Amino acid sequence: MAFENLLITNKGRIQYITINRESKLNALNAVTLAELHTAFTGAFANPDVGGIIITGAGPKAFIAGADISEFVNLNAHTGRELAQNGHTKVFDLIANGSKPVIAAINGFALGGGLEMAMACHIRIASDNAKLGLPELTLGIIPGYGGTQRLTQLVGRGKALEMIMTSDMVTAADALQFGLVNHVVSPEELLTKAEELLNKILKRAPLAIASAITAVNAATRSDVNGFETEISEFSKCMGTHDFKEGVAAFLEKRPAEFKGE
Ligand code: COA
Repeated sequence: MAFENLLITNKGRIQYITINRESKLNALNAVTLAELHTAFTGAFANPDVGGIIITGAGPKAFIAGADISEFVNLNAHTGRELAQNGHTKVFDLIANGSKPVIAAINGFALGGGLEMAMACHIRIASDNAKLGLPELTLGIIPGYGGTQRLTQLVGRGKALEMIMTSDMVTAADALQFGLVNHVVSPEELLTKAEELLNKILKRAPLAIASAITAVNAATRSDVNGFETEISEFSKCMGTHDFKEGVAAFLEKRPAEFKGE
C-alpha cells in the first residue's frame, strides 16, 4: 500500500516505518496520523513482520511535533476529539502492540514526536538529537500521552521541569535520566536499532507480546499488574514455543520458535 507521508520498507522480519515529510520536519498532520494507524495495524497483523523501527526522513528531525498549522481552528471540543483519537488510534495502539517497536530518533523529537518515541517500547537516539515537550509555548499541554509517559520514564520532578520550561534536552542528558535507552552516532543509529531488534526477534514471539502486556500493566491503574503477569505467564506455558524452548535448552541446541 502506498502512503502519502510514510515510507514502508522491510528488511528480513523488521519493518521500517519512516515519516516522510522532511520539508516540515516530519510534523504529524492529520493525514500522517491516519496513515500511521493503518501502517501499524497492518504491521501488527502481518505474520512476516516481527518488529518495527520507526524513524524520520532526513538528517534533521525524527518528528518536530504535531502539525501546528492544523491547530488554528481547534477549540475545547475538537481538541478533546483530537487528543482522544490520537491516543486510541496511534499512540496507545503502538504502546500496546503485540510486536516490539523501536524509535530511532534521528534529530528533533518534539511534542507529538517525543510522545511518539515514548509510546514505542525502546528508544535509541543519535547523539545530535534534541528532545522536548514545548506545548506550553503554544498555550497547551502535551495531549498524546506525554504528561503520563514522560512521568513514568523520568519521574515527576524532571517531567514537570521539562514540560513547564518547554526546554529541549540533549540525547546525552536524555540517556542519563532514562528517557532513551541508548545514544549512538547518526551513522550507527539504524544499525544499533536493527541489532537490538534482531536480538529480540530471536526470542519467542508470543512471550514477547506477553512481556509487553505485563510490563505495560505496571503503568496502568485499571488493572492489577501482578495478576496480569500471572495470567500472561500461564498463557506462555500453554504454547508450543514454551515446549520448544525447554526442549532446546535440554538438548543443548538453539530454539526454533514459531510463534505458536
Ligand atoms: N508543525 C508544522 N510545521 C512545522 C513544525 C510543526 N510542529 N515544525 C517545523 N515545521 C516546519 C516549519 O514551519 C518550516 O516550514 P516552512 O519551511 O514551510 O516555513 C519547516 O518545518 C522547517 O522548520 P524551521 O522552523 O524553519 O526549522 P528550524 O531549524 O529553524 O527550527 C525547530 C527547527 C524544530 C526548532 C522548529 O521548527 C520548531 O520549533 N518547530 C515546532 C516544534 C514544536 O513546538 N512542536 C510541538 C508541537 S505541539
